[in-house]
Amino acid sequence: MIYYKSAADLEGIKKSAELLSRVHGEIAKLIVEGVTTKELDKRAEEFIRDHGAVPSFYNYNGYPASLCISVNETVVHGIPSNYRLKSGDIVSIDCGVYMNGYHADCAYTYPVGEVSAHVMELLKVTKQALYEGIAQVAPGKRIGDIGYAIQSYVQARGFSVVRELVGHGVGKNLHEDPQVPNYGKRGTGAKIQNGMVIAIEPMINMGKREVVHEADGWTIRTKDRKPSAHFEHTVALYNNKTEILTTFQYIEQIFKF
Ligand code: MF3
Ligand code: CO
Repeated sequence: MIYYKSAADLEGIKKSAELLSRVHGEIAKLIVEGVTTKELDKRAEEFIRDHGAVPSFYNYNGYPASLCISVNETVVHGIPSNYRLKSGDIVSIDCGVYMNGYHADCAYTYPVGEVSAHVMELLKVTKQALYEGIAQVAPGKRIGDIGYAIQSYVQARGFSVVRELVGHGVGKNLHEDPQVPNYGKRGTGAKIQNGMVIAIEPMINMGKREVVHEADGWTIRTKDRKPSAHFEHTVALYNNKTEILTTFQYIEQIFKF
């Protein structure tokens, strides 16, 4: 069942989204060769709690951290560890914030040091794919239009779309209906209507689309071990206007690509 948001709900989600965007800005400052992914997680948790909020992911179905940190062939749900980032890596930072009863959800993938031109292309295409999806959030459109836009943009550029994980409604719960696949057919799925708040989150692989689950019960990686990228925004339709509630502006002040 889809929960359509009131003006008050939207205000609540916006506050969480603003703090979440600032969390990403804090973490962006720390993305350097040699930092451990655990150090990034610790900073995020501290920043969130210092601002009177709670990390949405912490303890979600038993998840043991505040961030999902997914390096190179890890697609999503990488658990922070003692791994040290090195030049040539890409690293996805996915975070959720819960404050005053509302969640927001956002992810960004960074290059570390020097990465190859092909990997840089993967990051740029995945980020733009997110915005191609967001452009479909409009009255009269359907959820399938989002997936179609993302899939066609990505495949035309030689990359592949992960099917096993999808975007989602977000609000009082981290994951609400509807599911928002990053692939699909135009004109199918639920109608996009005022009051909908959804997290759109393309997960895009350089090689084949297949993924496998690691034995830790969380980590999902590409089957062919080629790199994967992930970007995510929380987006609303309200009063026939599309609003991107999270922003990469704090990241992009520090990281310019
Ligand atoms: N960020 C994921 C999503 O976008 C959720 C992480 S699952 C968790 O839906 F368990 F780590 F929280
Ligand atoms: Co999400």
